[in-house]
Amino acid sequence: MPDRTLETAARRRLLESPWLRPLNDLAALDDLLAQVHPTWSLGRIKARVVEIRDEAPDVRSFVLRPNRRWPGFSAGQHVTVTLEIRGARHTRTFSLSSAPGDRLLRLTVKRQPDGLVTNALHDAVAVGDVLELSAPDGAFVLPAPLPEKLLMLSAGSGITPVASLLRDLRQRDPARDVVFVHVCRTPRDAIFAAELTAIAADMPSLRLVTHVTSERGRIDADGIVALVPDLAERHTFLCGPPAFLEMVRARWGAEGWAERLAFERFGGPIPDRRATGASVQVRALRSQRTFTTRGERPLLVEAERAGLAPKHGCRMGICRTCRCRMRSGSVENLRTGEIHAEPGRLIQLCVSVARTDLELEL
Ligand code: FES
Repeated sequence: MPDRTLETAARRRLLESPWLRPLNDLAALDDLLAQVHPTWSLGRIKARVVEIRDEAPDVRSFVLRPNRRWPGFSAGQHVTVTLEIRGARHTRTFSLSSAPGDRLLRLTVKRQPDGLVTNALHDAVAVGDVLELSAPDGAFVLPAPLPEKLLMLSAGSGITPVASLLRDLRQRDPARDVVFVHVCRTPRDAIFAAELTAIAADMPSLRLVTHVTSERGRIDADGIVALVPDLAERHTFLCGPPAFLEMVRARWGAEGWAERLAFERFGGPIPDRRATGASVQVRALRSQRTFTTRGERPLLVEAERAGLAPKHGCRMGICRTCRCRMRSGSVENLRTGEIHAEPGRLIQLCVSVARTDLELEL
């Protein structure tokens, strides 16, 4: 009887032999392939920039042709882009603004004043360059079956995933009843304005409303409700900066429409909210620390205040770097409003607040 342990060890030694490199080293083989053709890869999603469009001041779209590793996506989803800047790799998350039925992908990126990656994309990336992407992710997608009536509500560059949903609807169901309300600062800041007008020509039941704050002042929840008289019958898709998002969420919650609200957050960390009740205790099992919270700040912030250093990335519920297993207790997910109380569940610390005493594998 051959000794299987020896056989396996010999095979592993052979596979790890430096003489076989790069054939036995996926990363090295990938690097070699990239020398032959920049988008070739055995495991990584790469995409060549085939066009760059200026959409509005400080907003650019990168039209991309992905390699064969690209698995396809659902309208409304996002990807991460990894760029090498001064020798270090940096990753950020961006929504796709194209529709799944489009021939090419489109990433629309607003330059952020201190945004290392957004500035590098705007200043250094040119047509012909190759970007590294992650697989698409995100639950901000159209449900099946589609709701009868929809409200698409966006502010600023929050229009990106919402426009993807609308482009998808134009291809799949151009007769769908949609009201699209977009809020921007000036007429020049109205991203995709010409394209949306063209889409409206193909969608007879689409009503476009652009609220320009420099002309008509800020819009509040009453203003939005006044714009859409049959709002109670509509399923809302919302994306915008945190304050806008919280304003709409609060009103939709108060009206009893929260179940028909899907939202995507961008543009900064989850804001603190008012304390929601009595103090609860959070036990960090691995580090053997305990801290208290009244549920006004995400667990990531509370843990950092208590001297812990949980892994994190985006701090806004997108990258999932901060996921942590909850052993007991219940949390509220601030992005979805859902309460989770299943022991063993992975929660995202940056968008979860404690609702009861908790035990975390932290
Ligand atoms: S830090 Fe990115 S999801 Fe929490």
